[in-house]
Amino acid sequence: MDKKTPLSEEGGDQVHANRVAIIGASGYGGLQSIRLLQNHPFFEITFLGGKRTTGEKWNDICPYLPLQNDLVIQPPHPEKISEVADFAVLSLPNGEACQLVPELLDNNVRVVDLSADFRYSSLDQWSKTYVHEAQKLNRTDSDLCSEAVYGIPEWKANSISEARLVASPGCFPTASLLPLLPFLNQGLIEQEGLIIDAKTGTSGGGRSPKEVFLLAEASESISPYGVVGHRHTSEIEQIASEVAGHEIKLQFTPHLVPMVRGLLSTVYARLRDPGLTAEDCTTVLKAIYRDKPSIEVLPVGTYPATKWVKHTNKAMLSVQVDTRTSRLILMSAIDNLVKGQAGQAIQCLNLMAGLESETGMPLYPFYP
Ligand SMILES: NC(=O)c1ccc[n+]([C@@H]2O[C@H](COP(=O)([O-])OP(=O)(O)OC[C@H]3O[C@@H](n4cnc5c(N)ncnc54)[C@H](OP(=O)(O)O)[C@@H]3O)[C@@H](O)[C@H]2O)c1
Repeated sequence: MDKKTPLSEEGGDQVHANRVAIIGASGYGGLQSIRLLQNHPFFEITFLGGKRTTGEKWNDICPYLPLQNDLVIQPPHPEKISEVADFAVLSLPNGEACQLVPELLDNNVRVVDLSADFRYSSLDQWSKTYVHEAQKLNRTDSDLCSEAVYGIPEWKANSISEARLVASPGCFPTASLLPLLPFLNQGLIEQEGLIIDAKTGTSGGGRSPKEVFLLAEASESISPYGVVGHRHTSEIEQIASEVAGHEIKLQFTPHLVPMVRGLLSTVYARLRDPGLTAEDCTTVLKAIYRDKPSIEVLPVGTYPATKWVKHTNKAMLSVQVDTRTSRLILMSAIDNLVKGQAGQAIQCLNLMAGLESETGMPLYPFYP
């Protein structure tokens, strides 16, 4: 397919597609990004970066997702990237992106980072949360931390479209914040006592081998982890506080479940007005997300399943109210590797390139 910029569509001038480098190509986030950009009408992949896979040809290591221009994976030197790319998607372990971003930006490459390196507006908060990474680095880029835009396209489209640097949110924060933010924003729930109970599949831990993700360990079992102090807690709190206009502290417990993909988050809050019904609360969500194609608000009594969103960029949300306890129960299912990671990042890339955020996004699954 001939790839064009939106300008060429409108004006008839033949200009190149937006050129994208994907760094961390061989990892799960890199793979999804390549899949989403491979047939994208307005982007062309021009650089693949990695570490262990450096020197390998993409089509050799990934014959099930071949690229027409079969690139060789290279070390991610910012100057080299800037010679061939206008944008870079960084899908790297925490503490790696911050070593590349300043030079990429200096070389006019706009960046979407999938790690947590720029998700906090305060470098101090990042250092307190990512202690292990912070100890190994001597980060001084607090200006970039405050410049980076937290990339939830449904809430920050204008800032994302103008950003040089977008920090793509974590998977648990994405699933949990999407249903929660409208209620915090409109002051419909109490700000204390929020509880998030969430479950993720094993791909949430990335592609590099870890004992806990072995089939023998993870299958036929379900277990909590990171109870009290999981690193996504403060990320969720940061955005929840920003939208509520008050400091929010909440309880977040993740669980590992024996599936490859998918994330389900259930959020419990207490309604300020006990007279509000599930239908009222569903209307609140529907109104906020009415023109957001990646968000589906289900009818009252229909609860989302991870299989309904698998391989798609959809977040499926549902609301219930327990009138006995005045509790609002918010349920949210996403594919952790798409809406929870690379899909959301490509939504941001679309906005940065002046496109509709859902351009090229898969929104329906091949069920089951
Ligand atoms: N998995 C999820 O559900 C999820 C969701 C949201 C956000 N995230 C975040 O997204 C990021 C990527 O996660 P992932 O699950 O895709 O990780 P992953 O599968 O472990 O992949 C990591 C990638 O980083 C590359 N890499 C590591 N060190 C490098 C270096 N120094 N220079 C160049 N490349 C390097 C690896 O390349 P080689 O193979 O060539 O060494 C690999 O391609 C992480 O920060 C993660 O926290 C993950």
